[in-house]
Amino acid sequence: MGAFETIIYEKRDAVAYITLNRPKVLNVYNIKMRDELYQILGAIKDDPDVRVVILKGAGDKAFCAGADLTEFLTASSPVIARQVRWERDVWGLFLSLPQPVIVALHGYVLGDGIEMALCCDLRIASQDAQFGTPEVGLGIIPAAGATQTLPRTVGRGKALEMLLTGRRINAQEAYKAGLVNRVVPREKLLSTVEEIARNIASYDQMAVRSAKQAIVRGLDLPLKEGLELEKRLASSVQARTSQGG
Ligand code: COA
Repeated sequence: MGAFETIIYEKRDAVAYITLNRPKVLNVYNIKMRDELYQILGAIKDDPDVRVVILKGAGDKAFCAGADLTEFLTASSPVIARQVRWERDVWGLFLSLPQPVIVALHGYVLGDGIEMALCCDLRIASQDAQFGTPEVGLGIIPAAGATQTLPRTVGRGKALEMLLTGRRINAQEAYKAGLVNRVVPREKLLSTVEEIARNIASYDQMAVRSAKQAIVRGLDLPLKEGLELEKRLASSVQARTSQGG
């Protein structure tokens, strides 16, 4: 895979690392990053060697401070810019990955940054992380999923507060709201995420992927259908185990 301009892709053992790599502008999301993420996520999805994915941001100040406003405001209209982004459905690709995705969040996690994090399965934050959705203050609404993924993660009240006021919340508040799974000191962020990744990578991969699928797909189903999904997935895992495979 060729070198990228806006991201760094590495594979160590069974773990794939994606680093958003525009630190001078707080890793803001531009069209080039969209294209490169699209390419890399597609490759990861079909890579049997990748058992877990880690997503992180380069530099000290931010995981991602949102959309690149320079690009965004030069497009003929913000709505069209959003539309362009959807045409390459990076968010859909994130959500469809069979492997668990763990995101390491530090510094600013705003707009598209929070939306990307919400597409991941486990969110680990450092103490300095700050979360916010400034879109409404810019005269738009989030369109990379946050109006749907945020309330499903933190509940209606907190999601409405964040979206309507644009108030930034710190890591502790994010933890209390259920937005992140854990908060750790900044210097321990990557090692904590890597430890979780190695742990998951050591498990039976069919069991890992099936558990993820049961929860992620099941949440969109009525309970009865969700339980049927669980039953089907459990039987496949069981059948494979009893065949010794
Ligand atoms: N788009 C493009 N460039 C951005 C950016 C964005 N969303 N956010 C920050 N940058 C750039 C700044 O222009 C600056 O570039 P420069 O050094 O060439 O001037 C660099 O990143 C550092 O940002 P700066 O504002 O100097 O850092 P700060 O610590 O003072 O403030 C923020 C950090 C996040 C509070 C502030 O940058 C900000 O409010 N950014 C916009 C966030 C936003 O609205 N995102 C869009 C969501 S849809």
